[in-house]
Amino acid sequence: MKQVLITGSLGLIGYTTALYYLKKNYRVIGIDNDFRTKSLHSVPLSNQKLKFLQQNFPSLYTHFNIDIQHHAEIANVLHKYNDRISLIVHTAAQTSHDWSKLHPVTDYSINAISTLHLLESVREYNPGAVFLFTSTNKVYGDLVNTLEFDESDLRYDLPRSHHLYDGITEQFSLDQSTHSIFGASKLAADILVQEYAHYYGLQTGVFRLGVVAGPGQSGAFLQGFLAYMIHKIKQKEIFKIVGYHGKQVRDIIHAEDVVLAFDAFFSAPKPGSVYNMGGGRANSASIRELLQKIEVLCNTKTTASYDGTVRQGDHKWWITDTSKFKKDYPNWRPMYTLDDIITALYNQTT
Ligand SMILES: NC(=O)c1ccc[n+]([C@@H]2O[C@H](COP(=O)([O-])OP(=O)(O)OC[C@H]3O[C@@H](n4cnc5c(N)ncnc54)[C@H](O)[C@@H]3O)[C@@H](O)[C@H]2O)c1
Repeated sequence: MKQVLITGSLGLIGYTTALYYLKKNYRVIGIDNDFRTKSLHSVPLSNQKLKFLQQNFPSLYTHFNIDIQHHAEIANVLHKYNDRISLIVHTAAQTSHDWSKLHPVTDYSINAISTLHLLESVREYNPGAVFLFTSTNKVYGDLVNTLEFDESDLRYDLPRSHHLYDGITEQFSLDQSTHSIFGASKLAADILVQEYAHYYGLQTGVFRLGVVAGPGQSGAFLQGFLAYMIHKIKQKEIFKIVGYHGKQVRDIIHAEDVVLAFDAFFSAPKPGSVYNMGGGRANSASIRELLQKIEVLCNTKTTASYDGTVRQGDHKWWITDTSKFKKDYPNWRPMYTLDDIITALYNQTT
């Protein structure tokens, strides 16, 4: 029986990955200590998700409530399952920009140092496994903000003639900009994951993600803004816009489309590759546009406030160019439109 190990298995991407492989009858070994709920005070969903996995897949899902900073315990899990693991999806991380500013050492310990130790354990016990790392577009820092955007009532955007109109490619500079402490710790891990392919021959792949959303996302003010926005709207509370008058643009991808990309790489790995991954221009919107869309799609009213607060290093505009991934894996296309994602979140988020 094929086995998949997922760190962060109760988070948005980890949980979606777990469900995908469990439904394919893989054995899934999940690691998660519910750090997200504790650190970000997010909507608490992890107990519910763990119960669902354990009740619906009792013989296929095994959970370890371990902090990935406890390197010896993590090594024991990899040792125990050794070469039966064919895929490792490493999603456990400190995920918030703002939290990292307050706790830089813990952020680095979880995101960078624990990834290094995990790679070492994989090198020792599971060198044949495909190892996928969920990186972030924050590794590019805020250099994107120096582009000359047009400003309309609702959004910033590049002129149609601009060479980056369809999004940012992997060629974009990683240097000479503000990344946030979170962006820096993720970049350290991102590069280490690449080097473990170059130096030690591991079958690693790096996915630099934009905004990922989907049901089961535990929204928090500090991270996972779309789930949080919808949560506030459903609670009939005010959504607080942070930065840029709400005109900042993001492209949004459904977590299941990310998992389909993981699976394509798993089927035909290109070790050491790096891919930008996101919803692309078709799935892009500003915060103000999203609020309007939600009103129409979900037949509801929204209220938002803006007090001029800016998040340091925040992107004014981000659209992902996924053409490198599409070239390597031509059968992959995002299945979910932005409207689908919003509707699914509205119908399922608490
Ligand atoms: N969701 C996005 O929009 C997005 C965007 C860019 C990058 N990413 C990256 O993708 C990965 C997954 O994101 P997500 O949205 O699923 O996040 P998430 O917070 O929903 O999931 C991460 C999971 O990891 C667990 N975790 C964190 N620290 C841990 C630790 N020390 N030990 C054990 N478990 C721990 C958390 O409890 C959580 O369940 C992260 O690495 C994140 O940086 C996500």
